[in-house]
Amino acid sequence: MESKIALKEIKKYFSSKKGTVKAVDGISFDVKEGEIFALLGPNGAGKTTTLRILATVLKPDSGTAIINGYDILKEPEKVRKSIGFLPGDSGLYHRLTPSEFVDIFAELYGIPKEVVKKRKKDVFEALDIERYSKTIIDKLSTGTRQKVLLSNLLVCDPPVLILDEPAQGLDVLAAKTVEEYLLKLKKEGKTILISTHIMEQAEYLADRIGIINEGKIVEIATIEKMREATGKKTLREMFLSLVEK
Ligand SMILES: Nc1ncnc2c1ncn2[C@@H]1O[C@H](COP(=O)(O)OP(=O)(O)OP(=O)(O)O)[C@@H](O)[C@H]1O
Ligand SMILES: [Mg+2]
Repeated sequence: MESKIALKEIKKYFSSKKGTVKAVDGISFDVKEGEIFALLGPNGAGKTTTLRILATVLKPDSGTAIINGYDILKEPEKVRKSIGFLPGDSGLYHRLTPSEFVDIFAELYGIPKEVVKKRKKDVFEALDIERYSKTIIDKLSTGTRQKVLLSNLLVCDPPVLILDEPAQGLDVLAAKTVEEYLLKLKKEGKTILISTHIMEQAEYLADRIGIINEGKIVEIATIEKMREATGKKTLREMFLSLVEK
């Protein structure tokens, strides 16, 4: 299958008073068309930094990535049109309603108004947030806000989704709604890269998992292969055996 996301030796170091943090230290992997790939790692492992680089929010020190056929350094505009990026920190305009928020973004993407109207209805229904569509975002709960951000991406309907902890702040039911929706999108052929530190979520959603620790990928495999390689039964045990070395 065609590779929709391909990272090539990406590095990003940050300097601080305490010294250099090797946030991303030479990461390469690829995500195939129609695949869900989970980047799984502990706090500070470099997940958000990696995803921000892919979303062209941040420039790598070296290395690059090809997304939907476009180089993140040479054709960032085309990359941006190809992806939906869910940032870890909320990028919501709090004075707007979810409906207005989605309209504005869809217009920036150049999607016709009638198409937006139809997709918005479908997505709000699927994520169960129709009843909040006219409430000011400021007044919504954290979980509903997360769903608004996600529905915004879905209305824009890009072929590649890059989601930084998509279930962050969601209760079990809301997380399930989002997870089911992601599986549906995968069936439709979308390519999805998520970051998470929830092992059950990675196990439930992902075709392949990349375990990241201290800026490096320590293992990439399907759950089954990881099980064989580590001799551990649960993903939690596998994860700990890989990151505690
Ligand atoms: N702008 C920045 N300036 C300095 N250091 C940074 C910056 N952004 C990230 N870092 C550092 O880089 C490392 C990786 O951070 P990153 O946010 O990518 O981790 P993460 O895997 O997303 O963690 P979490 O699970 O907590 O979200 C951390 O040590 C972090 O403190
Ligand atoms: Mg993060």
